[in-house]
Amino acid sequence: MHQGKVIFPQEPWTITETEVNLAHNQRCETVFAVANGYIGMRGNTEEGYSGPEGYSLNGTYLNGFYDSTPIQYGEEAFGYAKNRQTMLNVADAKGISLWVDGEKFDVLQSKIIDYKRQLHMKQGVMTREIVWETRQGKQVELRIERMASFVNKHMALIRYEAKVRSAAAQMEFVSTLNGEVTNQVTMGDPRTGSGFAGQVLLTEGLRADGAIHGTAQRTKNTKFVLVSAVNHALNVEHESACHEQGQLIELRYRCEAAPDQAVVLDKYIAYFASKDYEEAELWPMAVTALTDAKAKGYNWFRERQEEILADFWQVADVSVEGDELLQQGLRFNAYHLFQSVGRDGKTNIGAKGITGEGYEGHYFWDTETYILPFFLYNRPEISRQLLKYRHSILPKAKARAAELGYEGALYAWRTIDGEETSPYYPAGSAQLHINADIAYAVKKYVEVTRDEDYLLQEGLDILVETCRFFADAGDWIEGKGFCINGVTGPDEYTAMVNNNAYTNLMVKDQFEFTVKSLRKLEQTAAWQGVQARYGLEERELEAWTTMAEQMYIHRVGQLIGQDDSFLEKAPWDFANTPREKYPLLLHFHPMVIYKYQVLKQADLVLAMYLQGHRFTREEKVVNYKYYEPLTTHDSSLSASIYAIVGAELGEIEKAYQYFMQSARMDLDDYHNNVKDGIHSASMAGSWLTIVNGFAGMRHDEEVITFNPTIPSAWTSYTFRVLFHGSLVEVSVTKEQTTYRLIEGCPVELRHGEQSFMLESERVCEISKS
Ligand code: BGC
Repeated sequence: MHQGKVIFPQEPWTITETEVNLAHNQRCETVFAVANGYIGMRGNTEEGYSGPEGYSLNGTYLNGFYDSTPIQYGEEAFGYAKNRQTMLNVADAKGISLWVDGEKFDVLQSKIIDYKRQLHMKQGVMTREIVWETRQGKQVELRIERMASFVNKHMALIRYEAKVRSAAAQMEFVSTLNGEVTNQVTMGDPRTGSGFAGQVLLTEGLRADGAIHGTAQRTKNTKFVLVSAVNHALNVEHESACHEQGQLIELRYRCEAAPDQAVVLDKYIAYFASKDYEEAELWPMAVTALTDAKAKGYNWFRERQEEILADFWQVADVSVEGDELLQQGLRFNAYHLFQSVGRDGKTNIGAKGITGEGYEGHYFWDTETYILPFFLYNRPEISRQLLKYRHSILPKAKARAAELGYEGALYAWRTIDGEETSPYYPAGSAQLHINADIAYAVKKYVEVTRDEDYLLQEGLDILVETCRFFADAGDWIEGKGFCINGVTGPDEYTAMVNNNAYTNLMVKDQFEFTVKSLRKLEQTAAWQGVQARYGLEERELEAWTTMAEQMYIHRVGQLIGQDDSFLEKAPWDFANTPREKYPLLLHFHPMVIYKYQVLKQADLVLAMYLQGHRFTREEKVVNYKYYEPLTTHDSSLSASIYAIVGAELGEIEKAYQYFMQSARMDLDDYHNNVKDGIHSASMAGSWLTIVNGFAGMRHDEEVITFNPTIPSAWTSYTFRVLFHGSLVEVSVTKEQTTYRLIEGCPVELRHGEQSFMLESERVCEISKS
């Protein structure tokens, strides 16, 4: 079952576009983006864009590289976020134009005989293969390949190959580095646009060292410095020249091409920023990197790219027999996650990756709740780096808590460098649950990897400070217990409520885990140090324990209120809301939305997934039934969670339908906004649905449990997970599940009620209940 439109042909490892479609050009610029966790280049054409305005967004971004500007409020209040942060569009190094016998190639203007643009998910490159007929009737074969290097985060490469069929020709390549770039401006959709109207990455000068040319730029407000530089290699005898014009560097390579001779221009691109290194080092580092890269050659990078991806796919690939379209969607999602995720401990993963300007390159709870769990089971070291980033911004979270008059730390709802940047608090910074989401990720990381050292080095810092925050921000209310009032839960269509059940259950969990971890340490030699580090006292641990025990949840029989007042509201009039009024946030004032029972996304149902052991099965059934019809899924974070819990409750076909909404959401552009960038949380959600949903994987400290089911449309599915350092493969068919130990020590597994030690292979029946 697919959602109707299928945009790209069904292929296992590639995404292919066979004709230029202007109307969907921006969407394709996102789909064909290449990135390496640091550099993100949209799939723009090398020759530039010559079509009508508004159909292309030329973008290159660096994860975490931003400028900020004060937020202009009509009416300010104490503690509002002060500054906006926007990931910047940086110097454009993608430009290469080819002139054959004096005629410029332009995919929109030239006569095109054959056209193909492809994303290669095993090779880690984007290619364009085009046959162009010049006005003189010469046919020119072009093959252009682009990558953001996985082996060196500072490097991107382009190989531009041109061959004239059966004729000699004069060729000129004009390769550019253009410092004059700006970001998009706000267009009325809260999810897109920046606060900047003009150029804020200001060019301070052009640089050259032999054949290497570059720009040095500084951000207007943050004063970060960026050096962008290029180096080239051409495989035939040629003449070259350099022209500098304002902020533009143009390198021209002229040669005579023999008939059918492949002329190949390799362009090596480097970005070095002062967020990573001292200002004075940037240019020398760029020169060294580019010299070294040219000496290694393009193919060296190409080979490394493929090897790194082979390692990734060896664990992360999920295969589904019986649905090729789905297979492609799942790979596309995993691939984009891998290329978008920051893995240097200083950056994170944006809601839109580094593929577009939606949400300004900000990091949200999307990381800990959706994306980090994806990497946890295939590349735990990436999850560790994501947590390291959170640790690095802990001082800012502490400052934010102090600013609001609280103890401990409060993480920013949306941010790049740790400072709160959400200008709209009801559906933004009031989502205190982000603290508990981060704490939950710390717990899961420790449980899955058994990396206890991490707790001592960094994890406890996060746990203790976020617990202190909640202990201070919560209130004891007579007749209720420990309450966390005046917050917004994950559902952004219900704001500023008391006792959001999701938040309270997640905080209860973090209190329990923190106290348990500390109690364990009490018995060890490390305890004195830990106690001294945090100034911990026994009564603090006791207080957290009591708060956890008496955490208030609003219940009416089996029904659990999303918060204290939710069940008293009138239901939204769904019957009279036409399709074009969705997403509601673009058509109704928040005041209208907030007063009804209507959800943007999974909230209590998300708690039923992450805190499943705290609900009876009956409660899950009753509450799923209650909240599902009230949920619009206007957020892309929603469908996968309803799929996971639906699968747990035996609603396999319903789960499958929800799953299909997230599996190809971006590839088929269901939300019509892929032009602004990928939906990274939803992409991860599709993996979570297979593993936590259909295969029913859950785990605690010791054991990993599966409760596999299979949608009727599939013959089988197979995936791998790393648990306690052992690699386990799970293969589910309609009749049975096969568990295989691929690498590492035997692990304890549970298949439904059946427990066993997996030593090599074990086949279990699928329960038909
Ligand atoms: C969702 C949030 C999410 C944000 C970024 C919003 O539409 O409601 O939960 O964090 O998008 O993806």
